[in-house]
Amino acid sequence: MRSLIDILDLSTDELDALINTALDIIADPDKYADACRRKKLATLFFEPSTRTRMSFEAAMYELGGHVISMTDAATSSASKGESVADTARIVSCYADIIAMRHPKEGAAFVAAQNASVPVINAGDGGHCHPTQTLADLLTIRREIGRFSDMTVGLCGDLKFGRTVHSLILAMSRYTGIKFVLISPDELRLPDYVREDALCRGSAEFYETSSLEETLPELDVLYMTRVQRERFFNEEDYVRLKDSYVLTRDKLRAAKRDMRVLHPLPRVNEISVDVDGDPRAAYFRQAANGKYMRMALILMLLGIKV
Ligand code: NCD
Repeated sequence: MRSLIDILDLSTDELDALINTALDIIADPDKYADACRRKKLATLFFEPSTRTRMSFEAAMYELGGHVISMTDAATSSASKGESVADTARIVSCYADIIAMRHPKEGAAFVAAQNASVPVINAGDGGHCHPTQTLADLLTIRREIGRFSDMTVGLCGDLKFGRTVHSLILAMSRYTGIKFVLISPDELRLPDYVREDALCRGSAEFYETSSLEETLPELDVLYMTRVQRERFFNEEDYVRLKDSYVLTRDKLRAAKRDMRVLHPLPRVNEISVDVDGDPRAAYFRQAANGKYMRMALILMLLGIKV
């Protein structure tokens, strides 16, 4: 039995296979309409979510399966003090697969060790978010057509932004990748990601605090929200929250075929006047998330169509 806790749990061949399944689902959704008949997905969300939870649920429905859901920790037994380990053990009795989001780093790992069904990490604190990376990769594949030989700028809260950590881990395995890490000093990429993914691998990278200076060289610009809920004090958040705001005006300096990605939700970091630019791929990226989650559910349940 297999879970997905970290994006590196999947080899690049498996990522390719998931992307090919997602593309096949997009081309012929009817073929998959009964693939998960009588299977149940449990979504356990101990933190807010719109896209991740709803796209998981839509994914399971579109595969012909069912969904049972815990959308708010306050209404679950977690509020009575139940551990993640016990919750995972119990939910395994009711569902065939679990997608879980939790504010504590490592929570999905603990759940997977105690569950008797596959567990998917839908975000664990400021650590990682592998299924967002699946959405990101399908978007890059559909919009740019390759994963190699490109310059990827990651901008904003690189410290707490779990989607950034997973994307760097995934993409640093391809060749000819250069990362430009754009953040205020306080929100730089954590050392463990820099060391694990970048210093040991072949990807080039440099760190800067200027978006304007680096924009012209980027093939992908991955914007992120400053993660207010992970800050220790509101003052620091208020000081840093508008460090970067991408506007239509600034985008003039970018390549004509660059793509702007954002895991969403956005707060202020991309002005709405960017939305109509063909390079703005973030809404298409959110749609791609559902197809990759469908492909992932099939893979972890061992269902071949
Ligand atoms: C992201 C997350 O939860 O980490 N959202 C998402 O799943 N698309 C990004 C964020 O909340 O900023």
